[in-house]
Amino acid sequence: MDKYATPQISDRVYALGATDWKRRVFDALAPTPIGTTYNGYLVKGDNKTALIDTIHPDFRDEYFGKIEQLLGSTPVDYVIMNHAEPDHAGAIPDVLDKFAATLITTKKGAELAGLYYNVPQDRIRIVKEGDSVDLGGKTLTFHPSPFIHWPETMLTYLPENKLLFSCDFFAAHNTSGLFDDEADDVILWAKKYYGEIMMPLAKMGRMAMDKIRKLDVEMIAPSHGPVYRHPETILAEYTRWTNQMTKPKALIVYVSMYKHTERMVEVFVEILRNKGIEIRVFDMVGTEPGELAEHLVDTRALVLASPTVLGAMHPLIQYAGIMIKTFKPPLKYGMFINSYGWGKSASAHGAEFFDSAKIENVGIIEVNAAPGEEDNQNLREAAAVLADKILADT
Ligand SMILES: Cc1cc2nc3c(=O)[nH]c(=O)nc-3n(C[C@H](O)[C@H](O)[C@H](O)COP(=O)(O)O)c2cc1C
Ligand SMILES: [Fe+2]
Ligand SMILES: [Fe+2]
Repeated sequence: MDKYATPQISDRVYALGATDWKRRVFDALAPTPIGTTYNGYLVKGDNKTALIDTIHPDFRDEYFGKIEQLLGSTPVDYVIMNHAEPDHAGAIPDVLDKFAATLITTKKGAELAGLYYNVPQDRIRIVKEGDSVDLGGKTLTFHPSPFIHWPETMLTYLPENKLLFSCDFFAAHNTSGLFDDEADDVILWAKKYYGEIMMPLAKMGRMAMDKIRKLDVEMIAPSHGPVYRHPETILAEYTRWTNQMTKPKALIVYVSMYKHTERMVEVFVEILRNKGIEIRVFDMVGTEPGELAEHLVDTRALVLASPTVLGAMHPLIQYAGIMIKTFKPPLKYGMFINSYGWGKSASAHGAEFFDSAKIENVGIIEVNAAPGEEDNQNLREAAAVLADKILADT
């Protein structure tokens, strides 16, 4: 009985990944409520053997156990570094210590391998678009695709298997199954991941998609989450996401200390609902800003709602604003709603936020303390204006 699970995902391609069940946050930013996986793969040719990426260094013992189980005393010849981030490349120094293997990566990858892992440059082969290595009956072709997370990233394609090793592109912090058809909520987890990692880089994502469309892809093996043996659905979603296509959907992000702002939000919500707008409402008390990323992927409008605190937006809304701006979402329209006690100073901050985030400011509604009937009427009218904007845009 084998000690480790090293499933063959395709002819002479084996999964070496580890599951980090306990991990609860990624990049100190993105919530990972069911942990994540670090996927690495081994490709066995007739003459040579290659590793596709490595593993998070916390899992190196298990990783080497798997390699030994599969190869016995046969050495590894190549390590393909699609990405230099430590969750995939952190075990590269160990692999290069153990085997006389060549590290294959992009020009920028060679620089980062030296910087992060002290890899001597004479252990590295730099590849360009379309370069390949022949493993004997299995070929790996390389497609540098900068910024499908970091500047050095590349895609590796195995034409004999029509298999694309995409690293973080198409990845998901989803521990629920090895293959897409065995895992839960595949697109939902992939969308969260896309929102956190790829959305700010949508333009580079579109360029990578153009490359991928030229390849004949029947399987996608990413660096986190399930392997797609039915890649059509995720490819269709990525086409929409990287093209920044939005839905008639609004995200309402608010905070309220004494429920004045919350009552304004409630009025707004009813009108948007009546107009058929899909909505998501987040009270930033108890919401991790990272949770917003998933919804920002395809949302057309943002309603920021904040009381005035010390002359500004509530700090939690300021924080949410920083996060939203950082993720560079395809939001088109924004509205700011505010309850204040003695001065209208917060609204200027709301307007400034929309300006700097390049979101069209559709309006600002200010209410002194609790909203009265006239305020509610103004809110209904403002919500209707926003809804019409959202709906007019297809
Ligand atoms: C800690 C704190 C600081 C505040 N600072 C300001 C302020 O600088 N300017 C102002 O106009 N109102 C200020 N207010 C008043 C609130 O903006 C006002 O009561 C508002 O209606 C609260 O809305 P909420 O119930 O949605 O939190 C402050 C209130 C609190 C509790
Ligand atoms: Fe990454
Ligand atoms: Fe990663």
